[in-house]
Amino acid sequence: MMSRLLIFCFAALIALLTLLLTSCGESEQQDPSRFSNQKTAGNTGAGSNLSDFEMEHAIGPIKQIMELSALDVNLAKEGEKIFDSKCAACHKLDERYVGPPQRDVLERRTPEFVMNMMLNPEENYQKHPEIKKLLGEYMTQMPNQNLSVQDARAILEYFRKVKDE
Ligand code: HEC
Repeated sequence: MMSRLLIFCFAALIALLTLLLTSCGESEQQDPSRFSNQKTAGNTGAGSNLSDFEMEHAIGPIKQIMELSALDVNLAKEGEKIFDSKCAACHKLDERYVGPPQRDVLERRTPEFVMNMMLNPEENYQKHPEIKKLLGEYMTQMPNQNLSVQDARAILEYFRKVKDE
């Protein structure tokens, strides 16, 4: 009699434990997916996940303020050549064309912003609120021109030069 009761209790205990364990397991499985859902929902919001640096200087390989020394005329000349061959189809210095005029771009944007936009347009179109706004205005996505950082730096020097001309 006694041993049957013991077996019954033991079985009941095991059943209870199994129930507890599986329900714990389930809630643990649900949590991460709930989190990742929240994250993707946040990403589609207006630039909500961008750092302060990215908001001001756009998203790309330039992640800190660059130190710009006095104008390097030779570098600017090199930049002008690249600009003429890869950018002039869409950008003029003083008139709106396919894209915005570029002479005053450094009055509107930081040097780091201009570099990141040249080097990483796609991601900025997806995530940066200011660039999304521009796209709404110009209706053309700037293609990635596969510039090296050095190319982009040369174009930046050209923009620095023409700004004061
Ligand atoms: C196919 C056309 C096209 C080409 C080629 C192109 N761009 Fe653009 N660019 C645009 C457009 C259009 C915009 C405005 C944003 C938009 O609507 O996509 C833009 C935006 C920009 C911006 C941001 C300007 C601002 O006011 O914030 C910079 C900087 C820029 N381009 C630089 C360049 C450089 C440098 C090159 C060459 C390496 C280049 N672009 C090549 C079309 C082009």
